[in-house]
Amino acid sequence: MTLDRILQSQGFGTRRYCGDLVAAGLVEVNGELCEDPGARFEVDGLQLTVDGEAWLACTKAYLMLHKPAGYECSQRPRHHESVYNLLPVPLRQREVQAVGRLDHDTTGLLLLTDDGQFIHAQTSPKRKVPKFYEVTTAEPVTEAQAEALRTGVKLDDEPAPIAAEGCEITGERSLRLTLIQGKYHQVKRMVAAAGNHVSGLHRSAIGRLQLDPALAPGEWRWLTAEDLAALKPAD
Ligand code: URA
Repeated sequence: MTLDRILQSQGFGTRRYCGDLVAAGLVEVNGELCEDPGARFEVDGLQLTVDGEAWLACTKAYLMLHKPAGYECSQRPRHHESVYNLLPVPLRQREVQAVGRLDHDTTGLLLLTDDGQFIHAQTSPKRKVPKFYEVTTAEPVTEAQAEALRTGVKLDDEPAPIAAEGCEITGERSLRLTLIQGKYHQVKRMVAAAGNHVSGLHRSAIGRLQLDPALAPGEWRWLTAEDLAALKPAD
C-alpha cells in the first residue's frame, strides 16, 4: 500500500493531509525518512514515526485497556468521561470499539478493536468466552450465596435462572465470578439476587488473557499474537 494510504488507514487524517505530512518530511518508515507519499510498503509491523510520534502500523487494531473507575464505555457518554478519551487520536479516528461494555464504576480488562468480526466472535453467546470478575461485596459472603450463584439465580427480565460458570470465595467480602454471558449489569444483578451487594468490581481476565499487571489504570497496549491466541477457545 502507498505510504499516504497507510497513514490514512492508521487514523492520521485524510489521504491528502497524510500525503502532505510525508512530503513535508515529517514521516519516518522503519527509522528512515521517507518523503514520497507514493512509496509502497506492507502495512503490518511497519514502524512509523509521524511528526515525532512512534506508531506501529497494523491492518486491524487490537488493544487492551486497564479501564479506570469513572469512565463510560460509550462514544457519547452522559455522566462521566468516555474511555475513548484515554486513547490516542489515531485510534479514535479509526473508530476502535470496546468489545462489550463495563459499567462506569467497574475497573479492569477492556478489549478494543476496529475488527467487527472479532467483536462479534468475542461477544457471541455461542462462543461462551469466560470472563473473570473480582467482586467486592458490601456484606460478608456466605457459602449459601456462592452456591446460589453456582446453581443459578433468578434475574427480573430472564425467564430461567442464570448460573455463574464458576464462583470462588476469595475473602470475607470478596469472590471471583466467572461468567460466559454478558447481560446488562449481570454481576451486580446476580450478586443482589443471591442476597448481597457489589461494592467493587474488577474484570481480571477474558478467556486465558489476563489484564497486564504492567498497565496502570488508564493505560493501554497492543495485543500480541500470544494474547490473541489466549482469547481463542482451547482445543
Ligand atoms: N457485570 C456488571 O454488573 N457490571 C460490569 O461492568 C460487568 C459485568
